Amino acid sequence: MNAVFKPLESLATEPAFPMDRWWVAGFAWELDHKPLARTLLNRRMVFFRGPDGVAALEDRCCHKELPLSCGAVEARGLRCGYHGLLFDGSGRCIEIPGQANIPSKARVRSYPLVEQDMILWVWISDDPEAQPPSGPPAYPVHGDPRYKYGGNVFHYDAPYQLIHDNLLDLSHLGYVHTRTIGGNPQLHMNAKVTTTGDDRTVTVIRLMPDSEPPPTYSAAWPFRGRIDRWQEVVFHPSHCEIWTGAMDAGAGRIDDPQREGFHMRGFHGVTPETETTAHYLWTIATNPHPDKQDVTQLVVDQTAATFEEDKVIIEAQWNNQKSFPVRKQIDIHVDAGPNRARRIIDKLRRQDRRPAG
Ligand code: FES
Ligand SMILES: [Fe+2]
Repeated sequence: MNAVFKPLESLATEPAFPMDRWWVAGFAWELDHKPLARTLLNRRMVFFRGPDGVAALEDRCCHKELPLSCGAVEARGLRCGYHGLLFDGSGRCIEIPGQANIPSKARVRSYPLVEQDMILWVWISDDPEAQPPSGPPAYPVHGDPRYKYGGNVFHYDAPYQLIHDNLLDLSHLGYVHTRTIGGNPQLHMNAKVTTTGDDRTVTVIRLMPDSEPPPTYSAAWPFRGRIDRWQEVVFHPSHCEIWTGAMDAGAGRIDDPQREGFHMRGFHGVTPETETTAHYLWTIATNPHPDKQDVTQLVVDQTAATFEEDKVIIEAQWNNQKSFPVRKQIDIHVDAGPNRARRIIDKLRRQDRRPAG
């Protein structure tokens, strides 16, 4: 399996993204009294909180094509900022100022949008009439009273699959994140790694028993000394769930699903914007120690600093890949998880190829 990101020319004959699925569009707290414009999978969309809940519409007024995101959210829907057409959450025009008759063609495309666990999930298909067969994935961590969390949305000038590569291979921590969640690079590169999966998921488990706590861990949790540290990454085509943490060395079973200690539970929505740009929509949840109840903001801030470091690396990597478009990459031992994810995305893209005509 060739792990190199496909040259852009191949996108002319294959869909760039898996279709007919839920993608992360944003977070609930991003929708207040203003419309939110965001391009997902090359589709310009506008999101707003209307009278019947959240809604996603094509960001194009059907009158003279002003982006609807230039308009205003009102009690009954979203009003275009040019000549005042008012649209409800289904995309139907419900008012044309100064005109009694509203033609049936006065509507814009809507997308199924669900607000669940504080995450906005949008279902995207090439077929405007298609509907999702089931609801979006659950993320119960956001509703778990043991955890407090925060997050953000980063824009990437790089293809979405480079973010998958990064999340599925945490060996980079010892080189990229020395100031926060890193640690001894040799320890990371020699961690015991198990990679498993099926046709929709990849799970990478890395264990680092009896290791030194990295800076963020020491700041957030009163470890006695050395720690037993774990990293569990679960990849889905739309997002990754990453549960990392540690406990005092020898304090319990490192693979116990109920294990105690310091936890960082990450939600990582990875949604293509275009073939070469992406949105990274993340949260980090932690279980504050009884003696350090105010530690959540520190964990969120250090996570944000960590992800800024990833963004610098990944965008530099992509710039370089564009400068060497025909050169092949090599695979090393850390690539097993990322390569499995590549195969899943490739398969989904091919499945979604529509017959010509
Ligand atoms: S362009 Fe939207 S109302 Fe005219
Ligand atoms: Fe990273």
